[in-house]
Amino acid sequence: MSHASDVRLTEEERAMLAGEAGPAVRKAMEIVVALARIYGARHLVPVESVQVAGVSYKNLGDAGLQFLREWADEGARARVPAFLNPAGMDLQRWKELGIPEDFARAQAAVIEAYTRMGIAPSLTCTPYYIGLRPAFGSHVAWSESSAVSFANSVLGARTNREGGPSALAAAIAGRTGAYGLHLDENRRATCLIEVRAPVRSIADIGALGALAGELVRDGVPYFRGLDLSWTRRPEEALKALGAAMAASGAVALYHVEGLTPEAGLPEILPADVRVLTIHDLTAGYQKLNGPLEEIDLVSLGCPHASLEELGEVARFLAGRHVRTRLWITTARQVREQAERAGIVAQIEAAGGQVVADTCVIVAPVELLGVRSLATNSAKAALYARSHSGLETRFGTTEQCLEAALTGRWRGP
Ligand code: F3S
Repeated sequence: MSHASDVRLTEEERAMLAGEAGPAVRKAMEIVVALARIYGARHLVPVESVQVAGVSYKNLGDAGLQFLREWADEGARARVPAFLNPAGMDLQRWKELGIPEDFARAQAAVIEAYTRMGIAPSLTCTPYYIGLRPAFGSHVAWSESSAVSFANSVLGARTNREGGPSALAAAIAGRTGAYGLHLDENRRATCLIEVRAPVRSIADIGALGALAGELVRDGVPYFRGLDLSWTRRPEEALKALGAAMAASGAVALYHVEGLTPEAGLPEILPADVRVLTIHDLTAGYQKLNGPLEEIDLVSLGCPHASLEELGEVARFLAGRHVRTRLWITTARQVREQAERAGIVAQIEAAGGQVVADTCVIVAPVELLGVRSLATNSAKAALYARSHSGLETRFGTTEQCLEAALTGRWRGP
């Protein structure tokens, strides 16, 4: 145990690290303790849930699949509730989307390995829409960056941005190191952002987040002057803000005055904090838009869409028909709710697809002949370029749906 002497372990933890609970648990504990040491944790902290990213075969490849199978073969099992981020395809309708057969086979094998380890195939980046909402102050180990941001900022739970293997290790060990955002002192704002630009839509929020993430990098911004009274569902705006900042920077926690649960806590905003002012969102929009006019695919639902967002799309499309491919990506459970509400049928009648289990970034869209994308998500716009080499257009939900109807992007 000498290598863990600087991280205080309980008796049970020492036994787990010594292999008394089997080789799979030992391996998990070795990873958890090694990370705890690197980040200077004094002890471990039990986690209430784990969200595991690193699910799409597009990103894992055969080496990743092999790694998962070996760990599952060794007897690895999650000891706390654990669930998966989106995969590379809709598990039920992959053929319809044009996913190649060999990709589908490998993707199914990845999910089989995770399921064998007791990890639920929820396949969503918005677990909070399917009842997985950690309580204020609870410790969790989540890994998809927008979900991490939401859990920390909107729910007031505590998680670092785990990597795929480290989240899996936390699920098997049931704990993580007490460092980073698990500690009070690291949850204080590192800068104050005064918002002077008008913000009136999810796209404006995305442009703001794209700018703020670049300015703040991995710090903790505190927003003042961000008015969300234009929306009846402020959580959706906060979801988009967190996703954008996690993509353009590495923000895992932010506070919004009057809105997020830790913003009013004493000492959360140090007196000598750096102040930045955002007067205008134009640079944010420019960063997310290419000169493209013809659109192959319009994708909404990054992060995964809520039932209300699906309802909005259905209402907009009533009596019309799309010319491009239109995906609205969501959690399977939310899709099922939308099916029962008749929303899926309405969207499909207009030629759109409500796609579950995946998204435009983790699906192999480049294999589907897609070259250009329109989206209302700053995160999707940024990642579609860097991960899939797509040209992108970014704007409001209405602009995206107009583009789906005409095949062309209108507006700046
Ligand atoms: Fe979720 Fe995919 Fe966007 S995982 S946050 S929909 S890139």
